[in-house]
Amino acid sequence: MTGGQPTPQDGVVFDRVGKSFPSGDKNNPTVVLHEISLTVAPGRFVAVLGPSGCGKTTLLRLADGLNRPDTGSVRIFGRLPQPGPDIGFVFQSFRLIPWASVAQNIAFGLADLGLSKRELDDRVAHHINLVGLTRVANAFPAALSGGMRQRVALARALAPDPRVLLMDEPFASIDAQTRELMQIELLKIWAQRQSTVIFVTHSVDEAILLADQSVLLAPRPGRVVEVLDVDLKRPRWVFDTQTLPRYLELKNHLSAQMRKLVLSDPSSDFFGR
Ligand SMILES: Nc1ncnc2c1ncn2[C@@H]1O[C@H](COP(=O)(O)OP(=O)(O)O)[C@@H](O)[C@H]1O
Ligand SMILES: [Mg+2]
Repeated sequence: MTGGQPTPQDGVVFDRVGKSFPSGDKNNPTVVLHEISLTVAPGRFVAVLGPSGCGKTTLLRLADGLNRPDTGSVRIFGRLPQPGPDIGFVFQSFRLIPWASVAQNIAFGLADLGLSKRELDDRVAHHINLVGLTRVANAFPAALSGGMRQRVALARALAPDPRVLLMDEPFASIDAQTRELMQIELLKIWAQRQSTVIFVTHSVDEAILLADQSVLLAPRPGRVVEVLDVDLKRPRWVFDTQTLPRYLELKNHLSAQMRKLVLSDPSSDFFGR
């Protein structure tokens, strides 16, 4: 974090961000995020890791401008975040438009870019091809498998070529083989486009495979407990990364931290608590 006001060079900056939501008790709102300070430098890939309910989705929604913080500030390249073509969001639940085809779903986010019909069609076709869905370009979401829907969601987020890509457990509900291929695709796209990525996951392996840094959040209230540099060389898919001693060290460390956080959460129902 640099001193003073954030500048565009800082990328995505959370500065002492707090966020609460109303609870049943009017005088006692639920504090979801507390004093979150975090800087994601331009072009960096940061994974946010933490137990369920610790505020990961809330953090992404603040970065997109879908919500505003109660205290502190969020800046995207020096500006207040605002949903639009500069920020791609891959939602946990896909959120495809059911009455629109794959191609139309992807075209939707390009409407405000002032592209000609030809440019728009090319851009859509390119992204459909990028995620391997050319064969089903005219199909509707209901006809697609979960993995395919997730690929549509990814293509839709990538198509406007956003500076910032926010991803909320994007591969959590797809099978292991597809997930592995998608992770590699994502890393290739990221290396090529140099976008700034915040990737939420609860998978330690995924965080280590993908990210430059892993940020560990603790629950109730959500706060940063650790920022870990994932110091494994890239590209990570060309050799057997998962057998490297350093990989195992990072994995053991993060897994132990996650276990500790889950067990220390008073609202967790592990072991009948
Ligand atoms: N709009 C909302 N209104 C009330 N409570 C909310 C709202 N959004 C999230 N929460 C609460 O905030 C906490 C964190 O939610 P979330 O950010 O979705 O966590 P995570 O993504 O880490 O599982 C949860 O307890 C959730 O119930
Ligand atoms: Mg979530």
